[in-house]
Amino acid sequence: MNAKSRAFCARLGIAHPIVQAPMAGGGSTPALAAEVSEAGGLGFLGAAYLTPAQIGEAVAEVRKRTRKPFGVNLFCGGFERAGAAEPVAPAMLALLARHHAALGLPPPEAPSPQSDPAPAQFEALLAARVPVFSSTFGFPAPDIVARMKAAGTFVIGTATTVEEGKRLAAAGADAIQAQGAEAGGHRGTFAAPFERAMIGLMALLPALADAVEVPVIASGGIMDGRGIVAAEALGAAAVALGTAFLVCEEAGVPDAYKTAILRAAEDETTLTRAFSGRPARGIVNAFLEEAEASGAIAPFPTQNALTRPMRNAAAKAGDVERLSLWAGQGVRLARRMKAAELMRVLVKEIEESRRALAS
Ligand SMILES: Cc1cc2nc3c(=O)[nH]c(=O)nc-3n(C[C@H](O)[C@H](O)[C@H](O)COP(=O)(O)O)c2cc1C
Repeated sequence: MNAKSRAFCARLGIAHPIVQAPMAGGGSTPALAAEVSEAGGLGFLGAAYLTPAQIGEAVAEVRKRTRKPFGVNLFCGGFERAGAAEPVAPAMLALLARHHAALGLPPPEAPSPQSDPAPAQFEALLAARVPVFSSTFGFPAPDIVARMKAAGTFVIGTATTVEEGKRLAAAGADAIQAQGAEAGGHRGTFAAPFERAMIGLMALLPALADAVEVPVIASGGIMDGRGIVAAEALGAAAVALGTAFLVCEEAGVPDAYKTAILRAAEDETTLTRAFSGRPARGIVNAFLEEAEASGAIAPFPTQNALTRPMRNAAAKAGDVERLSLWAGQGVRLARRMKAAELMRVLVKEIEESRRALAS
């Protein structure tokens, strides 16, 4: 470990500067988060799709399994247009109707207006006094940040550009997760046009580390010890791995999804709005391609609500053609094992990588 990583680990009370990235939608289960924390990393719950009561339960479940620090993540933004019902194009309803039929579901209906769940979710988090919080799509309002800090919570924001990182630092972030273009899942972009905020981690990380005083956590395409040591060399105080942990036994996504990751190559993921209306990186499948070709994708959160019945049914059926297969560009390096074993392997590989560099 270098001085930055040592300081980060000491501040958070963890042994290794390895974060299991939050993955909403079932990926980051309490079991996964707890196993990573128990192994000396920082486990995370992706709580964006949980109700306040479910957040309380998930946090309690993590605490039952470990006394070590862990984090909880929420979406902070994206609902600016919510409240008004977004019209859904007939072409999207027709496309979904075909996929619903294939899954034995009734035809889709245009969703009712979606309200922002974040305010009630924040209250649940504050009540749970979690050790670490992270946000994506933006940052909580100043009064929420102040209350979190008063409760002793370490607050992390997600940046996809240096400008976003500076804004997060100015808003009081204790650390910044730099999300490179390689990353699986939704883009955290909140202050730049999405298409111009696709900065590779190799370019984003050193520039962001130079621009802010707070520690930077590198994420996007990091799958093994080599990636971790490279991130350290580029100025990271820690790393966050999503896809690498998603194929672990404890991750909550269907087995067919894990198999799709294990079989995928680096040229099989793409950025798409097909499932949620917000750009996210996932493995190409039938619904993704057809939705992109339709030109009829609704904005977030309407598209997200619209495709939910299909995604839920597809998850139950293990149907990978109708499921959002979020994954990063490092898919080829994914390895199926238990989370504690992956942590052990990563720590060993870090040492090996360091030795190889010094030789
Ligand atoms: C299935 C999946 C779900 C994700 N969900 C979230 C989320 O809820 N909140 C968040 O901040 N990031 C989310 N991410 C992004 C991760 O935090 C992280 O940026 C990304 O996984 C890093 O890239 P990698 O997958 O190549 O390791 C998700 C990523 C994946 C793969």
